Amino acid sequence: DRPRPLHGRRVLVTAGPTREAIDPVRFIGNRSSGRMGFALAEAFGARGADVILVTGPVARPAPAVAELVQVETALEMDAAVMARVADADIFVAAAAVADYRPAEVAADKIKKQMDELVIRLVKNPDILARVAARRPRPFVVGFAAETSQLEQHAVAKLHGKGLDMIAANQVGAEEGGFDAADNALLVLWAGGQHSFPLMPKPQLADRLVDLIVERYLASTPR
Ligand code: PMT
Repeated sequence: DRPRPLHGRRVLVTAGPTREAIDPVRFIGNRSSGRMGFALAEAFGARGADVILVTGPVARPAPAVAELVQVETALEMDAAVMARVADADIFVAAAAVADYRPAEVAADKIKKQMDELVIRLVKNPDILARVAARRPRPFVVGFAAETSQLEQHAVAKLHGKGLDMIAANQVGAEEGGFDAADNALLVLWAGGQHSFPLMPKPQLADRLVDLIVERYLASTPR
C-alpha cells in the first residue's frame, strides 16, 4: 500500500482554462485542457488528501475528489477559491486563468458590421497572489507558463506573488505545455530547485506532488 502522508489534509487545486464572455455566444479562452490540474488532483487524492478541485470548462472527465466545483470565468474561479481557501492546507494553482476580461459583455450577439471591432479588456483578480497574501494561509504552489526565459520569469513570479513554490513550464513549443499529453517542469522554491524532464502528465504530477509534500511537511506553519 502507498503511504498516505496527507491523510486528514485539505488540498485545493485549480485546473483548466477560464472563459471570458464577449457576447452570449463568444468568449476569450486559452488552450488549457485540464490534464495537468486533474492529474495533480488525482495524485493528491492518492496520498490521502481531501481534494477540492475548482475547474474551468474542459472536455475531459474530472477525477473522483472530495468536492468538484465547475466554473466558467476568472471571477467565478476567484469566488470559488476564496470561499474554500480558509480550510485548505495546500493550494495549487494549475489553472490557466485569463488575465483580462472584456470590460462589457454585449447583451446580444455582436453583428458583423464594421471592418474593425475593438474589445476593451480589464484586468482580472490574480487568484494565486490573493491566496498567497492571506494570513494565515495554505502552503502555496503556483505555475508559470512561459514562452521564453522560463527561469527568470518563474523566479519573478515566485518572489513577486510571495509563493512557497513555483512549477514552470515552457508553453507554445512543439512538446509539453497546454493541451499536450506530456510536460516538463522546472520547480523552484526558496533555497532549492528541481527539474523534471518531459514525461506523461500523470507521472509528472505524481513526482511533483511528492516534492510538494516533502517541502510542505518541512515548512513551518504559516
Ligand atoms: O491544462 P493542460 O492542457 O494540461 O495544460 C497545463 C498548463 C500549461 C495550463 C499548466 O501546466 C500551467 O502552466 N498552468 C498555469 C497557466 C498560467 O496561467 O500561467 P501564468 O504564468 O499565466 O500564471 C501564473 C500563475 O498565476 C498560475 O499558477 C495561474 O494559475 C495563476 N493565476 C494567473 C492569473 C490570474 N488571474 N489568477 C491566477 O491565479
